[in-house]
Amino acid sequence: MRFFSSLLLSLPFAIAQATAWSKTCIVPASGNGTDDSPAIRQAFQECGVNGRVVFSENTTYDVQSVLQLHNLSNVQVDLRGTLVYSTNVRYWIQHGSHYYFQNISIAMEFSGTDIIIDGHDTGVIDGQGQVWYDLALGIGGLFGRPIPFCLRNVTNAVARNFKILQSGKWNFVMVESRNILVDNIYLSSTSDDYQANPGNLGNTDGWDTINSDNITITNSYANTGDDCVSFKPGSTNMYVKNLTCVNTAGIAIGSLGQYEGVFDPVENITVEDVTLIGSRNGAYIKTYMGKRTYYPPQGGGNGTGSVKNVLFKNFHIENITAAPVLIQQCSAWAGWDVPSCSEYPATGFIFDNITWANFTGWMNEAVGTTTVSLVCSPYSECSNIQVDDITVVPATGTGTASRICTNVNGFNASCGVSNSTSVEARMSADGVLT
Ligand SMILES: *[C@@H]1O[C@H](CO)[C@@H](O)[C@H](O)[C@H]1NC(C)=O
Ligand SMILES: *[C@@H]1O[C@H](CO)[C@@H](O)[C@H](O)[C@H]1NC(C)=O
Ligand SMILES: *[C@@H]1O[C@H](CO)[C@@H](O)[C@H](O)[C@H]1NC(C)=O
Ligand SMILES: *[C@@H]1O[C@H](CO)[C@@H](O)[C@H](O)[C@H]1NC(C)=O
Ligand SMILES: *[C@@H]1O[C@H](CO)[C@@H](O)[C@H](O)[C@H]1NC(C)=O
Ligand SMILES: *[C@@H]1O[C@H](CO)[C@@H](O)[C@H](O)[C@H]1NC(C)=O
Ligand SMILES: *[C@@H]1O[C@H](CO)[C@@H](O)[C@H](O)[C@H]1NC(C)=O
Ligand SMILES: *[C@@H]1O[C@H](CO)[C@@H](O)[C@H](O)[C@H]1NC(C)=O
Ligand SMILES: *[C@@H]1O[C@H](CO)[C@@H](O)[C@H](O)[C@H]1NC(C)=O
Ligand SMILES: *[C@@H]1O[C@H](CO)[C@@H](O)[C@H](O)[C@H]1NC(C)=O
Ligand SMILES: *[C@@H]1O[C@H](CO)[C@@H](O)[C@H](O)[C@H]1NC(C)=O
Ligand SMILES: *[C@@H]1O[C@H](CO)[C@@H](O)[C@H](O)[C@H]1NC(C)=O
Repeated sequence: MRFFSSLLLSLPFAIAQATAWSKTCIVPASGNGTDDSPAIRQAFQECGVNGRVVFSENTTYDVQSVLQLHNLSNVQVDLRGTLVYSTNVRYWIQHGSHYYFQNISIAMEFSGTDIIIDGHDTGVIDGQGQVWYDLALGIGGLFGRPIPFCLRNVTNAVARNFKILQSGKWNFVMVESRNILVDNIYLSSTSDDYQANPGNLGNTDGWDTINSDNITITNSYANTGDDCVSFKPGSTNMYVKNLTCVNTAGIAIGSLGQYEGVFDPVENITVEDVTLIGSRNGAYIKTYMGKRTYYPPQGGGNGTGSVKNVLFKNFHIENITAAPVLIQQCSAWAGWDVPSCSEYPATGFIFDNITWANFTGWMNEAVGTTTVSLVCSPYSECSNIQVDDITVVPATGTGTASRICTNVNGFNASCGVSNSTSVEARMSADGVLT
């Protein structure tokens, strides 16, 4: 009872829940190296509806086979222990749970309604990803890399107070889900040969949302190597607040337009109070170019899309290596035979009402001084763009921050206001040092 009332007090909203749990299943761990997945499945079978499933503290569960925890309803998962995924690459490549988008492969997925997953600050999911980082060297999109945690076709859920370590691929993925609160999650994926092979942490995004609506992510941390958060196609009504991202690629919308002939909408995204340390990009939008090369998941392109009503504000940035304010429309397969983006510019994208405000910090001096790079395709509509108070300065403390705007309504090439009658076009002084 004590537990139940503290739960109600700490929830910022009420999850439909008529009564306390009618049953509790404590998942046993074999402790002898055999697969604990059958016991986990059994626990969810018995307690996955109006029940509670407990992974005990200080207990390690070996996960050697895929977990499709479906048809859950009104369940609390107390993830107090540690789940450790096996490194049997042959098994995971053959048996992951698949989703069509980029043909992702999921090791553990939850589906259903009214699900609370609480790690109580002790829960850990350990993907043992090093084997995947080594295997995927140069082929970030290598088929079968397991996603350790996925909410799939979930309505009403809370996930909080746990860690995901050494994820084989993207860390925390939400697909076809809605009304989700993610709070106090810690993600860390680092490769033991990252310095020698910096590319090998590709595709280790922190959080990804795909075809999902109304998700809030707060008070969390990620050190994962690729995008900290990536709002992928079909992400609507997303809210992020108080995130620290270390050694990530920043906060991304996209890449959109990977699937030829498919329209990718993204709408109503607010991201605020973010600290980015050692980031590749800041807050950015990326789309594929206008010609498909090879096929998804490795290649693709020549899709269309729209990004509407986006606000990125209060970013503190240290040692960023690209423009913190960025639109780029030239994603392509990272292989040979890719035609030039200028020859085949992205076609059929609309960017409307996108704001970057109050970015402070400094850039890695080795990589130049461009703080704003909004390069829209001539065949995109880029309007109602606002960039206010961007004071990210070159690390040297000297020099002038520069800006590039291409095909952005209301701005000239150096992002000056070109049309004073356009009320939307606003760009305040940024990063100009004496
Ligand atoms: C491992 O432990 C489980 C459950 O405790 C038991 O059923 C199984 O026989 C054990 N296997 C080995 C190889 O010891
Ligand atoms: C788990 O282990 C820690 C460290 O040894 C200990 O402080 C804690 O009391 C243990 N928790 C339980 C529930 O046994
Ligand atoms: C979920 O429940 C439905 C019926 O309620 C059933 O048809 C389906 O097989 C179940 N799915 C799983 C994965 O158990
Ligand atoms: C999604 O979940 C709902 C119930 O929550 C179910 O009726 C539906 O069949 C599921 N869809 C898929 C694609 O599994
Ligand atoms: C959005 O999700 C929250 C839970 O995170 C819920 O309280 C709220 O009602 C949802 N909003 C809508 C419009 O469904
Ligand atoms: C932001 O999140 C961190 C956890 O990453 C937490 O320690 C801190 O208290 C949060 N700050 C605010 C203002 O809530
Ligand atoms: C892009 O895709 C469309 C179909 O959606 C097709 O008609 C067009 O030829 C393609 N463009 C190129 C450059 O391949
Ligand atoms: C975006 O937000 C606006 C204003 O709140 C709302 O009218 C619109 O329906 C939202 N778009 C989507 C796709 O939910
Ligand atoms: C523009 O986007 C912001 C969120 O960033 C939203 O509050 C506002 O309503 C949008 N304006 C229009 C005209 O949709
Ligand atoms: C700008 O963002 C910083 C965090 O990076 C915050 O401390 C500060 O209060 C913000 N300023 C305004 C005017 O909101
Ligand atoms: C900035 O990041 C680069 C790697 O991108 C690193 O070599 C350098 O030491 C960092 N600088 C500081 C002051 O942290
Ligand atoms: C300037 O902006 C106004 C208002 O958005 C628009 O009607 C007008 O066509 C623009 N003029 C030029 C030259 O772009």
